[in-house]
Amino acid sequence: MEIAKNIKYIGVDDTDIDLFEGQYDVPEGISYNSYLIDDEKIAIMDTVDARKTNEWVEKLEAALNGRQPDYLIIHHMEPDHASNVKMILEKYPNCTGVCSQKAVAMVKRFFDVDFADRLQVVKEGETLSLGQHTLTFIMAPMVHWPEVMVSYESSEGILFAADGFGKFGALNHPNSEGMAADKLHGTVEGWACEARRYYFNIVGKYGQMVQNLLKKAAKLDIKVIAPLHGPVLNEDLGYYLGIYNTWSSYQPEDKGVFIAYCSLHGNTEEAALKLAELIKDNSDVKVSTSDLARDDMAEAIEDAFRYDRLVVAAPTYDGGVMPIMQDFLHHLSIKAYQNRTVGIIENGSWAPAAGKKMHEAFEQMKNINIIEPIVSVESTVKEKTVEDLKALATTLIG
Ligand code: FEO
Repeated sequence: MEIAKNIKYIGVDDTDIDLFEGQYDVPEGISYNSYLIDDEKIAIMDTVDARKTNEWVEKLEAALNGRQPDYLIIHHMEPDHASNVKMILEKYPNCTGVCSQKAVAMVKRFFDVDFADRLQVVKEGETLSLGQHTLTFIMAPMVHWPEVMVSYESSEGILFAADGFGKFGALNHPNSEGMAADKLHGTVEGWACEARRYYFNIVGKYGQMVQNLLKKAAKLDIKVIAPLHGPVLNEDLGYYLGIYNTWSSYQPEDKGVFIAYCSLHGNTEEAALKLAELIKDNSDVKVSTSDLARDDMAEAIEDAFRYDRLVVAAPTYDGGVMPIMQDFLHHLSIKAYQNRTVGIIENGSWAPAAGKKMHEAFEQMKNINIIEPIVSVESTVKEKTVEDLKALATTLIG
């Protein structure tokens, strides 16, 4: 599978992983991408997760066809890509690892072997000629770890983008109905859903660093984006670059209201769903809801960032807010949630405290417009509650 002349895809799909990074549900699996540039000098572009070492080595050896690689380009040291760095450097004694300065210490930390004499450190703008192909290295710290770099192959215009432009989902998976027949290459249709969930949950905290990388990328003539997860992108690049600009600048992608709720006995849920109904009945504003205790948390985070308006609804619990809502708020906080309008619904039967706690959490975030007053449900939804929800719906509709 070539992504360009003499540049092969040698990545692998992981379709039986239960949780990526030990926490993210991946119903369509994930791919660990790796590439081989076959030139006067042969370069391997990253390795793969230890879960798929054997399958990857088979592909690598087939592509090498008995030859020895000259370089292993290490864009990112996270184990889903770098698990096999030690194995490759030991298996091919003439292969030089190429990485950023920060990656050198990480190689030692992960493998407890000092490969210093086997690693070639590259700096911003440095180039490596392989023959017909030349790589230019661009530092991309915190996209998504501090040692990350990307590289640009100038003869074909390929940006090897590390985690950037990655997405959840194996390239070939039985659940992946409707994907393009050529599953190596991505299409705009359907790409954003799992790319957005991946971006906000994994890279989302580092929007400014992604912005810095996008500014550098704008100076390059990019024809192909080759990420470390998900399909290779070789058409409609303006779409992907544009949506990454929106995401990394923390601007909403869509107009709409996302209602995230949790409920002990169904009463807070009733209030949340009543609000959704009131918005739908009185406007064409898009509404999405999530029961935080039952639905995927990573998807709730994705939707909170996707829309320009958010409503949180939770009961009081142990003098604070129900724990799953606390967890949601914590996720928003660490992912630098900002620039949104937020409505709050609390429930309490004797000493309501959830609203105050949720309010305090949003006060700590940047540029959040909190709709006042908080809607306070007293145990069950009553006529007065519906009136308060109507007022909240009217403000949200705008
Ligand atoms: Fe796909 Fe940050 O590793």
